[in-house]
Amino acid sequence: MTFTQQDARPELESAPGSEWWRTAVIYQIYPRSFADASGDGLGDLPGVTAHLDDLKELGVDAIWLSPFQRSPQKDAGYDVADYRDVDPIFGTLADFDAMLAGAHDRGIRVIVDLVPNHSSDQHVWFQEALNAAPGSPERARYIFRDGKGKNGELPPNNWESVFGGGMWKRVTEADGTPGQWYLHIFDESQPDFDWTNPEVRAEFESILRFWLDRGVDGFRVDVAHGLIKAAGLPDFTPDPEGGSMGGDAAGVPYWGQPGVHEVWREWHEVLAEYDGERALCAEAWLPTVAQTALWVRPDEMHQAFNFAYLETKWDAEALRDVITESLHEYAAVGAPSTWVLSNHDVVRHASRLALTAENPQGAGIGPKSPGKPDPVKGLRRARAATSLMLALPGSSYLYQGEELGLPEVIDLPDDARQDPTWFRTEGERYGRDGCRVPIPWTADAPAYGFNDTGAAWLPQPAEWAEFARDVQREDPASTLSLYRSLLAERRAHGLGAGSLEWLDGYGDDVVAFRNGPVTVIANLGDGAVELPAGDVLVASGPLDGDTLPTDTTVWIAAA
Ligand code: GLC
Repeated sequence: MTFTQQDARPELESAPGSEWWRTAVIYQIYPRSFADASGDGLGDLPGVTAHLDDLKELGVDAIWLSPFQRSPQKDAGYDVADYRDVDPIFGTLADFDAMLAGAHDRGIRVIVDLVPNHSSDQHVWFQEALNAAPGSPERARYIFRDGKGKNGELPPNNWESVFGGGMWKRVTEADGTPGQWYLHIFDESQPDFDWTNPEVRAEFESILRFWLDRGVDGFRVDVAHGLIKAAGLPDFTPDPEGGSMGGDAAGVPYWGQPGVHEVWREWHEVLAEYDGERALCAEAWLPTVAQTALWVRPDEMHQAFNFAYLETKWDAEALRDVITESLHEYAAVGAPSTWVLSNHDVVRHASRLALTAENPQGAGIGPKSPGKPDPVKGLRRARAATSLMLALPGSSYLYQGEELGLPEVIDLPDDARQDPTWFRTEGERYGRDGCRVPIPWTADAPAYGFNDTGAAWLPQPAEWAEFARDVQREDPASTLSLYRSLLAERRAHGLGAGSLEWLDGYGDDVVAFRNGPVTVIANLGDGAVELPAGDVLVASGPLDGDTLPTDTTVWIAAA
């Protein structure tokens, strides 16, 4: 069976199928941990600008920046106080413009994070809401409700925050009495907007235009499945074993409500007014690929993260199934499939793929976690997994540091941890700090070249010198060299715009397919696999003569 992105192209587009985001490799920058030009221990926008040549050399098509807007940083910037300004810790709007121009000069597109589900409690609207009376227009921008119980002392429903604890916080009214409650899916410093309110919609349309006018190529839309809540806010008890962001259960009253699609249709229209193929990418954790595909119908968003792929175990059959399903479901709505293995919310795949115990999304791993990964096996699998992913048709996302093979940092000291998950669950869940440690650039430098001062907002492990970019650049067997080769061959052979044809005969534990002139074979089994004839374009690890060892992927040019 053959699936092609060609089939997926919508008929309504003026230049069907040629848009950059259909095939792009997009590199996620988590600004606070990428590069720190100011030396204060937190990365910044001038740090990004200073390393654009490294990204060009790596060979990515675009970058996505996690939030850098004004924020008290209670959730590492996903708590925005002013959507139209850069937080001073990251620089200024002028620094942003310089970064954007520098990226565009190098042919690199830039998408920025937009956080519409909630603001910071320091946002002027929320402050106005706190100072206004129940029932006022100021409160109507957020989700305020009276409490239950005799004196309103109980929360309006039983919903639990993604970060642990309840989803409601009670405020004190202007006269000093205990008052209404407001909803926060995440931390209590992140009140949810009421997206049924036209004022909220108008404000975000204006925010979109602010960044589009500055020249951004699109937006990664945070918590795109959360904006609309089920009418009446009915009680709901999630599966305690489930992941924190949803995606495990159907019928959750605060995830994936049909009303969100109207918002994306409005946003689609706004972006379409601009030239340059601006794009929207949904962060939507939903139970099925088919449901996620609804986010990228032709008049909605352009891409959605393929979290079903990210969450697939290192198992050949499971991978074949999720790839087949993804290509089918996204093609059915005229969208490309995306692929992703790591981001700032999940355990890095160089560790995750070797975990031996269940690890729900958001739990993280730390000193007391069961099933700690074997780092050698993890890196070997990560290299094989990325080599498989980058051969698939569609668009792929990379997360900073994975091109260095960075593992999750497991042994962060308790007092260094900063993820609200850690605090709200009182240490029961480690959260996401382990994938957010500042990345190493230079082996023999303070903070491994993250800055000049040696400061780092999360401590970097002593053994990270060996992962530093300068060391890997010189080593043809390094993970960095592998990523560069994969990206160059992917581009040379047009794999992003290609098609997938499954190849039989390699056994159940092998994922094998052809994409245009390239045969891709990933061996997830214990035994060696005989290689077909043809030139080896790239291999994720050493080959054994004419055989492919376990946990290794190879790209072969058809003979
Ligand atoms: C998204 C972000 C995550 C953040 C949350 C709340 O899931 O990726 O980092 O904590 O939204 O904004």
